[in-house]
Amino acid sequence: MSKVTVVGAGNVGATCADVIAHKELCNELVLVDIKENFAEGKALDIWQTAPVDMYDTRITGSTADYSKTANSDVVVITSGLPRKPGMSRDDLIQTNAGIVKSVTENIIKYSPNAIIIVVSNPLDVMTYCAFLTAKIDSSRVFGMAGILDTARYRAFLATELNCSPKDIQAVLMGGHGDTMVPLPRYTTVAGIPVTELVAEDKLNAIVERTKKGGGEIVNLLGTSAWYAPGASAAQMVEAILRDQKRIFPVCAWLQGEYGLKDVYLGVPVVLGKNGIEKIIELKLNDDEKKLLNESSAAVKEVMNVLDNLNQVTA
Ligand code: LAC
Repeated sequence: MSKVTVVGAGNVGATCADVIAHKELCNELVLVDIKENFAEGKALDIWQTAPVDMYDTRITGSTADYSKTANSDVVVITSGLPRKPGMSRDDLIQTNAGIVKSVTENIIKYSPNAIIIVVSNPLDVMTYCAFLTAKIDSSRVFGMAGILDTARYRAFLATELNCSPKDIQAVLMGGHGDTMVPLPRYTTVAGIPVTELVAEDKLNAIVERTKKGGGEIVNLLGTSAWYAPGASAAQMVEAILRDQKRIFPVCAWLQGEYGLKDVYLGVPVVLGKNGIEKIIELKLNDDEKKLLNESSAAVKEVMNVLDNLNQVTA
């Protein structure tokens, strides 16, 4: 028996819930939103796909009644405002920090043993916000960004090479913003180094497009993406509930790894039933290290904004 809660029934939350239900990752799935009747409506619509698509996961919705989420094994937090064109993820901090803080308080009250996956933006700092609020071990509070950013990178490479995205293996590190660090040196196509298959200028262009991958969709749609973010968060839920020990880039609390301390940043980890079971330390070269340090500094700047906000409201 397992139970999952997805907080936020907007585009990302509803898509994530839909994927979780279709994959039958849990028996019970609760969708929560603050907007009256919204989660109930979305949950009912998703539940009505069960007889068509033949799955059992029982999904229900709730308007901010967190008692319904009690004893969840995994909670995905997607609440908050999405970006509009011209906005950076960091512009959302003030509004979304208040939301993520109060959601986390409610979650921990009813599910003290839950593993929390944060999806709200600005991702790295909202994960830090949930960690400060939840006061649980950092192996159980982390953020979803790396799977999404790597998926974009892999999708662009699959298009460029006209090959299956299944055959593209890659790792991408750093914050979920323009300073993210795709790593061509650790990218292979069915075991073949990507640098043997894609010319350097083309590869650089793909790396740059990946860094702005979220913004590209915001410009096309007028709001941020949801299919790939929802599916990526569901993949983390799957790795945890099925104890798969999968290796994914995840936004994790660093305590000296990569020479970085007290920062939430995307790094490869092993994900299993205990949450983050291991942080994997790659032997980065000097250029890669420099990029990761810059990304960490950019995230820390926004973490400081949150710390200052907390001092004002404390
Ligand atoms: C994106 C948003 C969800 O990257 O951060 O699409």
